[in-house]
Amino acid sequence: MEKWSLMTIVALLGLIVRWTVSLGSYSGAGKPPMFGDYEAQRHWQEITYNLPIKHWYFNTSDNNLQYWGLDYPPLTAYHSLLCAYVAKLIDPNWIALHTSRGYESQRHKLFMRTTGKCFRKGLMGKGLFLLIKLGFTVVVSFALCWLPFWTDVKQILQVLRRLFPVDRGLFEDKVANIWCTISVLFKIKTALSAETQFKLSFALTFLTVLPSCIKLTLQPSLKGFKYGLVSCALSFFLFSFQVHEKSILLVSIPVCLVINEIPFMSTWFLLVSTFSMLPLLLKDGLLLPYTVTTLAFFTACITSFSIFEKTAEDDLQLKILSSSIRRYISWFKAFPDIMKNLFLVSITLMGILTLMSATLDPPQRLPDLFPLAVSAVSCLHFLFFLLYFNVIVIWESRESRNQKKTN
Ligand SMILES: *[C@@H]1O[C@H](CO)[C@@H](O)[C@H](O)[C@H]1NC(C)=O
Repeated sequence: MEKWSLMTIVALLGLIVRWTVSLGSYSGAGKPPMFGDYEAQRHWQEITYNLPIKHWYFNTSDNNLQYWGLDYPPLTAYHSLLCAYVAKLIDPNWIALHTSRGYESQRHKLFMRTTGKCFRKGLMGKGLFLLIKLGFTVVVSFALCWLPFWTDVKQILQVLRRLFPVDRGLFEDKVANIWCTISVLFKIKTALSAETQFKLSFALTFLTVLPSCIKLTLQPSLKGFKYGLVSCALSFFLFSFQVHEKSILLVSIPVCLVINEIPFMSTWFLLVSTFSMLPLLLKDGLLLPYTVTTLAFFTACITSFSIFEKTAEDDLQLKILSSSIRRYISWFKAFPDIMKNLFLVSITLMGILTLMSATLDPPQRLPDLFPLAVSAVSCLHFLFFLLYFNVIVIWESRESRNQKKTN
């Protein structure tokens, strides 16, 4: 009973925080002619409701793809269509063809917030039978989603072209991944051909997900699976092609799954992931919600997870690694201290950079100085976390094997 009331309180608290934050501004508010992501979501409702399905992904006189053309998979488009039916019931002006462009009102904002679209992308137990069942479900649902587009090779190719915007380049804005960070020193986008960039990005993504995937295939375990999710998502964020800043959320979600196992490192990671989106948040006028929710989250983690008391080797899941190291370097016992000090340096740096980004004007010759600094600092953190999570995936199974042996 007590557990239920606690869960209810936590859920309601989460709801209130979201509700409060939703009062803030949003991407592209009052910024014609293109507006922003909010308009993209609204425009997709307009397009999917008013145009025949065969026109959704094509440039036509009623569907200018340069104006927020649909570039997400069919399932997202169906969801837009569903929302459009609801919108039509409330106020047809919200999705009227052409005339609804840039529509803004308090009621519409409430509608958009409650239909809750931000972004979505499509990322075991009793052996083979389960695998076949799972595979079957995936294939069938995939086939159903694509059904309307199958009739025609032209349709399929156009949808794929919209979903994989290869010609948009290796990266666009100041995203905290390896490509944007390297570009500070080496202009990778101009120095290498598009094809080389593509191959390089593919190769690095593939190679960095490989260790945890191999480990998981050879020694499957629930724990390994959770940490494997984190490390693979992080590899994709750091090395793959055309990554958006907000894709770090795809790493944050699995990190939330392990926050009770490694509270100190998870809290640290989640703080960095939000910080990495600072330029985006500042652009949308969300400094206040960012500051308040970050401080509240940090305080909650300090008090409810006692993160600063959970830095022993056991709590960091680094026991086996450190005892292996100690076999060669007998005086080594520094992990907890190293981590704590790094953490302090890290949050100080993030605090200073936040303050500078929010209050100072960048030098005229370097207008992107602050966003770049935020990206580069976050990227260094993410590389460190990639190493850390891979160490857990690779050492963790050995640990559970040892435990089984002793049991
Ligand atoms: C796409 O269609 C719009 C009109 O809806 C037109 O202005 C634009 O030039 C077209 N773009 C391409 C690439 O054909």
